[in-house]
Amino acid sequence: MNAAIPVEREIEHLRDEIRLHNYRYYVLDAPTIPDAEYDRLFRRLRELEAAHPELVTEDSPTRRVGDRPLPGFEEVRHSVRMLSLENVFSDTELGDFDRRVRERLGTDEPVVYTAEPKLDGLAVSLRYEQGRLVQGATRGDGERGEDVTANVRTIESVPLKLLGKRVPAVLEVRGEVFMPKAGFAKLNAAARKAGEKIFANPRNAAAGSLRQLDPRLTARRPLAFYAYGLGEVAPDFADAHAAAMKKLREIGIPVSPELRRMKGIDACLEYYANILARREQLPYEIDGVVYKVDSFDQQSLLGYVSRAPRWAVAHKFPAQEELTVVEDIEFQVGRTGAVTPVARLRPVTVAGVTVSNATLHNMDEIERKDVRIGDTVIIRRAGDVIPEVVQVVPDKRPKKAKQPRLPAHCPVCGSEVLRVEGEAVARCSGGLYCRAQRREAIKHFASRKAMDIEGLGDKLVEQLDEKGLVKTIADIYALEAEQVAALERMGEKSAQNLIEALEKSKATTLPRFLYALGIREVGEATARSLASHFRTLEAIEQADQEALQETPDVGPVVASHIASFFRQEHNLEVLERLLAAGIHWPAISKPAADAQPFADKTFVLTGSLSRPRGEVKARLESLGARVAGSVSNKTDYVVAGEAAGSKLAKAEDLGIEILDEDQLQEMIDAAD
Ligand code: IVH
Repeated sequence: MNAAIPVEREIEHLRDEIRLHNYRYYVLDAPTIPDAEYDRLFRRLRELEAAHPELVTEDSPTRRVGDRPLPGFEEVRHSVRMLSLENVFSDTELGDFDRRVRERLGTDEPVVYTAEPKLDGLAVSLRYEQGRLVQGATRGDGERGEDVTANVRTIESVPLKLLGKRVPAVLEVRGEVFMPKAGFAKLNAAARKAGEKIFANPRNAAAGSLRQLDPRLTARRPLAFYAYGLGEVAPDFADAHAAAMKKLREIGIPVSPELRRMKGIDACLEYYANILARREQLPYEIDGVVYKVDSFDQQSLLGYVSRAPRWAVAHKFPAQEELTVVEDIEFQVGRTGAVTPVARLRPVTVAGVTVSNATLHNMDEIERKDVRIGDTVIIRRAGDVIPEVVQVVPDKRPKKAKQPRLPAHCPVCGSEVLRVEGEAVARCSGGLYCRAQRREAIKHFASRKAMDIEGLGDKLVEQLDEKGLVKTIADIYALEAEQVAALERMGEKSAQNLIEALEKSKATTLPRFLYALGIREVGEATARSLASHFRTLEAIEQADQEALQETPDVGPVVASHIASFFRQEHNLEVLERLLAAGIHWPAISKPAADAQPFADKTFVLTGSLSRPRGEVKARLESLGARVAGSVSNKTDYVVAGEAAGSKLAKAEDLGIEILDEDQLQEMIDAAD
């Protein structure tokens, strides 16, 4: 920006620009700049504010997060009561609601309603004075809630300052704070990995996040907000619900894009069916639809009963959570060997589908939730997601409830079940031998970057397995053309092609073969490292975990997977058969021909080195590097010895990475 512009103006300008982009992103759902550009504006504003703390204002977009936890939440008295809703569960009940409304209004005409999704979060009231957010409060008992201003400020879709010049002197907005599904899934996945508390559903996650005493924690939770009503506001703000929501949108408050205005109850039913059909695709959880009589005059005529308005109703969707009993806990073996506990349930209908199994994820999760056989549990089925045990109902635990134990042996193949320290998942160590893992193991073995067996695709592997023709990867080399030709959709020609491809695949390389074995965590790069470090299969087989860890790229976890693979008798048998079938590879001399860790890297040596330059050059070239005489923008690294001069200066100018001799040696060691 132009240096002549006073800093106050630049700051104000940046704030306005950022607010506008927030509005386009959160309210209109139509951003006009890429995220990187937004970040740049934000960073610039932060920098200017850091340099001029006297210019920082509370409504600046940078001031969402305070720096101190609260000692507790203050109580807030709502100036206008926060109401709740009556529920209906069927078309008939909704018809009754509509009839009562028309009777009270004394009309036979269809009523104009608005309809919007019923978001599954928690209700809050936001108070703006002169366009600035001054308070955020929870609903509490409707009369009194808790002051959660510091936390509400961290929600990015909640504007700290309203847009436009003519905003009401006082405006209270009511709406729902919720956690979108994607954010919820990410939060729980991270918590599961870290062994931390898991939230039962997005609503609990939203509530738990908003009631944090430390707003810095709230700020890290992916919360969002949609407005659905008004509290205290001047009477001339709007004369109907849809018009009021439109006005909120115009001044920067997000409102559900699904909000519609419609005439009569049949249109409401259509809306309900449409939203229900799209329930799973919506990016947030909803538990129904809310209909409101649109006209504020009509709303006043209808009034309230106890805590709910007579002019609105929630039409609930089928519940996604139900109670049932855990009759047993069994262990299933997945394609990667993961041994997963599954709850066998007394069958129960959840959201229209009978559920008799639910995943328990892993032993850590069973322990955390303390699920026992015989427990009554809340289970949840959301869309296509596998049903889950949300929590135990402790009061209903029978005395004889039994704690499940992780089996020591795989229920499918009988191999040891191993649980690596620090990992939640237990795995069958049967590898190639275990039926549960066989198909995937074979598909992987045949894949392009592994043994590259042309024609042995997923479909064929499944057919071969179904017919019982392959039990381990070694069996594929025993296949005969007639057996293959007899399979569905296979002719003699394609069978012959497969046999030839199998034959051809036998000439391979050690890294490919190692990778093809499908040892956990051994990808192509690790396979290459192992091959060039140990050079023979026997050496790898015999290496203990400590020796394995001397390989670059191999840490304790990978080493333990490799060692346990080669400890299993079945795996050794399969290996022996593969080699007996004629799989072979060229011997690897040191340094490995295909280990060129510095391929495509250009080095420049400058200054005086402790060893002859020719020697260093030869060493680098043996690892695939190019060693050039002068620095250019094609140079990747400059190695600077004593008294390095102009080449070093040029490298610095071009921002090229500079290494001293020790750093170079480290790189060479790591690569070798
Ligand atoms: S209107 C006077 N609209 O549902 C009417 N509520 O069961 C007050 N909710 O406490 C509520 N989405 O937390 C309304 N589109 C929506 C809603 C909604 C979710 C929640 C809200 C309320 C609860 C009542």
